[in-house]
Amino acid sequence: MAEFRLPSNSRMTDGKTWSANGASNIKRFRIYRWDPDTGDNPRVDTYEVDMDTCGPMVLDALIKIKNEIDPTLTFRRSCREGICGSCAMNIDGTNTLACIKGCDEVSGDVAIYPLPHMPVVKDLVPDLSQFYAQYASIKPWIRTQTPAPPDRERLQSPEDQALIDEPSACILCACCSTSCPSYWWNGDRYLGPAVLLQAYRWIVDSRDEATGERLDELEDPFKLYRCHTIMNCTRTCPKGLNPAKAIAEIKKLMLERQL
Ligand code: SF4
Ligand code: SF4
Ligand code: FES
Repeated sequence: MAEFRLPSNSRMTDGKTWSANGASNIKRFRIYRWDPDTGDNPRVDTYEVDMDTCGPMVLDALIKIKNEIDPTLTFRRSCREGICGSCAMNIDGTNTLACIKGCDEVSGDVAIYPLPHMPVVKDLVPDLSQFYAQYASIKPWIRTQTPAPPDRERLQSPEDQALIDEPSACILCACCSTSCPSYWWNGDRYLGPAVLLQAYRWIVDSRDEATGERLDELEDPFKLYRCHTIMNCTRTCPKGLNPAKAIAEIKKLMLERQL
């Protein structure tokens, strides 16, 4: 029988354990570590954190670990309000934002890994270069030919505005795209749910005048049609958005214009 194993330099090794001696309210955080500068294999380090002196969110614990236990731990964060998308990572098996995930939402040890199936820059920091390039490829800005009125903005009805409310709330954290099996296997050609949600946002914007071109640009066996409605994206979105529905709407618009 064929046996499949990770290449030797990708196999996880035992990490270090950092004990919180003397603390009575301890939670253990098991965190993926990898430093490209050492040449060592990835490992999982275990940090015991005294929850009596720690904030309630997973990001609070990561900051405490970095400040008080191990300054080499590397992760991204900025707003700590669920707005910037920087702290996206895989916590307890689900892609989410560390700043809005409560430590008490995880029973037992808290396992933390970088967003899956992305190249790792270091520890919990994934390389999102391709993700951002794909976002740029859908031209995420208003495209018009008609000059804007000289004395006011381009107006929208409340109903038209409502169409873009939800997709505009996307913070481009990449939790959805990195939970999508189609994106895992074809991420170089399939745009993935986050970028398609943004494509949809501009397609349905009543002020935009490039709807046809936008649909033409998605008419491709890979860019759009690799979505197989598996729904991981919608299930994982920490902002409660529904990229799978937006993808289905784009497919519907593609069909409608052929009739
Ligand atoms: S749709 Fe949700 S999960 Fe996906 S990038 Fe936007 S906010 Fe993040
Ligand atoms: S619904 Fe489409 S985009 Fe969402 S996880 Fe499934 S295949 Fe990926
Ligand atoms: S730090 Fe900005 S979303 Fe978590």
